[in-house]
Amino acid sequence: METYLSAGRFPTQSLRSSPRSSAFSNSRKASLFHGTVCNFQPEMEKKTLNLNRMFIFGMGFVGLSFAHELKRHGWEISGTCTTVAKKMKLEEMGFNPILFNASDPELKSLNPLQGSSHLLISIPPIDGLGDPVLSLHQDIIRRILGNGNVQWMGYLSSTSVYGDCGGAWVDEDYPINATSERAKARLAAEKGWLHLGNDLDIPAYVFRLGGIYGPGRSALDTIIKHETLSKSQKMRESRNYISRVHVADICQALIASMVLPSSSSSVYNVVDDNPAPRAEVFAFAQTLIQERWSGHIMECSSLDRSDVAIEVENVKTGKRVSNARLKQELGVSLLHPTYRSGLQSIAETMNHPFR
Ligand SMILES: NC(=O)c1ccc[n+]([C@@H]2O[C@H](COP(=O)([O-])OP(=O)(O)OC[C@H]3O[C@@H](n4cnc5c(N)ncnc54)[C@H](OP(=O)(O)O)[C@@H]3O)[C@@H](O)[C@H]2O)c1
Repeated sequence: METYLSAGRFPTQSLRSSPRSSAFSNSRKASLFHGTVCNFQPEMEKKTLNLNRMFIFGMGFVGLSFAHELKRHGWEISGTCTTVAKKMKLEEMGFNPILFNASDPELKSLNPLQGSSHLLISIPPIDGLGDPVLSLHQDIIRRILGNGNVQWMGYLSSTSVYGDCGGAWVDEDYPINATSERAKARLAAEKGWLHLGNDLDIPAYVFRLGGIYGPGRSALDTIIKHETLSKSQKMRESRNYISRVHVADICQALIASMVLPSSSSSVYNVVDDNPAPRAEVFAFAQTLIQERWSGHIMECSSLDRSDVAIEVENVKTGKRVSNARLKQELGVSLLHPTYRSGLQSIAETMNHPFR
């Protein structure tokens, strides 16, 4: 992942004040990233290791990228996964994983959460159950957080909560029109985590993510691996506007809110500047492949796209999600404002994908 935690990237606003967050003195802010994010004075830095412990519910694509990024800055990372094989991989990477299946009402142990300073929730809602962590384990989590050291909570949500907005620009105050059961469950999960943070006086944030892509998960990978689109991807195929975000920019947004939380907002859209139809993104990805690995284009062109031949509606559908608040309040400057720059950077680091 690119180095975006360069000095001076983020503005130096004050942290949101609450009994807990006011405990974040400048020296504590500086210790979060060992002086790499902001222009903090070196003498203000203090190594307070127990402040730099992230617990991640769901070390999936985003959770793991974020974990790697924080680890590079000296953080200790604990988190959950659902299989023994993944647990072993995470251990090899230097993390402290625990097995956790949220839909299993019998909770084995969440010990590392007790000593954590930050908490990220990345487990999606489950059909018919809602947020599995809140639905089945809220009491114990409430107890742990109530007696613990957590100073920041982030919940990874989705722009799907807005529903289909007929192509309109949508900011965080746009009337929510969650029609599908999944979007309703997502909205309920957002509310649940914000409510918990409020009850426990822990600053809590919701990040509404657009379609996530990054190294290992992108239009390039789909073409190169000849993957077929999932059902939900096929449904999105007909939309004129799809908002996306590169995983590195998600990490930027999370870090910005940890270091420099806004004074008022709890909900942020995390998307790039360039909502675009999927077909446009795939056409660009295919061109990139042709340029970089000429000779393989025939192979790529033969990708059977008949499975995505869904009738394209001749109307403006989807939504254009605005990231103005992310930029204005958290001072995030996107590394990949468009899918073009994001895909280009992925292509540049891909190692002989056709071998
Ligand atoms: N993909 C997108 O384009 C997109 C867009 C907007 C929002 N989102 C949401 O943003 C969040 C992060 O996305 P992502 O792409 O990083 O997701 P991901 O790669 O699918 O990771 C999800 C994580 O949740 C864990 N998990 C799933 N069900 C679980 C359960 N019942 N009990 C315990 N753990 C469970 C998975 O465990 P394992 O590691 O063991 O598999 C994984 O670590 C998710 O909530 C996702 O729905 C995704």
